[in-house]
Amino acid sequence: MKQINVKASKNYTITVDRAFENFKAQVLPLIKGNVVAVITDTNVEPLYYAQLESLLTGKTVCKFVIPAGEENKNAENYISLVNALAKAGLSRKSTVIGLGGGVVGDMSAFVASTYMRGVSYIAIPTTLLSMVDSSVGGKTGIDLDSGKNLLGTFFQPDTVYINLDFLNTLPEREVKSGLGEIMKYAFIDSRITPSDLQNINYEDLIVKSLEIKRDIVERDERESGDRMLLNFGHTIGHAIEKLYDYKVSHGECVLKGMAYAIELSEKLGFISAEQKETSLNFLNGAGVSLEKEFNISQIINVVKSDKKADGNTVNFVFTKGFGEGVIKKIDIAKLSECF
Ligand SMILES: NC(=O)c1ccc[n+]([C@@H]2O[C@H](COP(=O)([O-])OP(=O)(O)OC[C@H]3O[C@@H](n4cnc5c(N)ncnc54)[C@H](O)[C@@H]3O)[C@@H](O)[C@H]2O)c1
Repeated sequence: MKQINVKASKNYTITVDRAFENFKAQVLPLIKGNVVAVITDTNVEPLYYAQLESLLTGKTVCKFVIPAGEENKNAENYISLVNALAKAGLSRKSTVIGLGGGVVGDMSAFVASTYMRGVSYIAIPTTLLSMVDSSVGGKTGIDLDSGKNLLGTFFQPDTVYINLDFLNTLPEREVKSGLGEIMKYAFIDSRITPSDLQNINYEDLIVKSLEIKRDIVERDERESGDRMLLNFGHTIGHAIEKLYDYKVSHGECVLKGMAYAIELSEKLGFISAEQKETSLNFLNGAGVSLEKEFNISQIINVVKSDKKADGNTVNFVFTKGFGEGVIKKIDIAKLSECF
């Protein structure tokens, strides 16, 4: 078992474990109240819910299952969930547990942060992407018709519990998606290097990713500065995700977005042509096509509606090569230079 301590507006511990071995010792004592709402999705529920429920000894456990997939991280499901929590009699003293990938994580944390003005929340991420990224840092939210994550809060969990065995059932495509977010860290922090992604040790990669994200979140919890570095590949990645109507995974779209960010970094002189080639080859290692499937005007239109855009400008994250990112405000029209 490994543990990472986060000191944010709330201090909490992330436990990286196997086979739920230390769940009872590390998580059970932190669960407030006797009633626990476990929010999960239709794919994760049959795999892991029963095991989790059996570990929640002494608690009354209520199960809430949402349909799997990004298209379900929406207002309708959010309202249904909070209504179901109220119907089941969950009080302010209850705890919400999110058992699932980033979709369940964002949705359940948003429910916890708003239900009765906020109840305790415990994250149990089950995808590689949610283990290394979305379960940490306190961003919660749902998508609106006009864009991704447009309704949400900053809300830190009481604890995060990662069971590495969840990765055994993860489809190959979701593994690639998680590797995309891990590769992102290699472009902004030197603690993850390209060779770490050649001989993969998931426990090591997950712990290093969490330490990098933890350090950034501790410096800038509300994303007014350094935390924007975590958006490397995301400005265009989110636009691509929307253009695909959320049918292609977040991590795959981020990989595609990073390819654009690398090209733009070269065009604007942050890296050499050789560094660009090395970086793109590294990204290709994730096994996701980096073909440009949309034209520039389609992407620019979506970027303009991104919550991070400010009129005709956006804070864009460039790489200065492996290990170093840089944030620069640019004119959105400049994005055409990477086409
Ligand atoms: N809050 C943040 O800081 C943050 C950061 C990054 C991404 N996100 C969000 O995370 C979401 C993407 O998360 P994701 O990639 O985990 O997607 P996801 O939650 O849709 O999970 C991917 C698929 O894997 C299935 N699944 C989950 N765990 C499984 C397991 N152990 N075995 C088998 N199948 C399993 C899910 O049911 C789903 O079909 C996006 O909505 C994105 O916006 C949030």
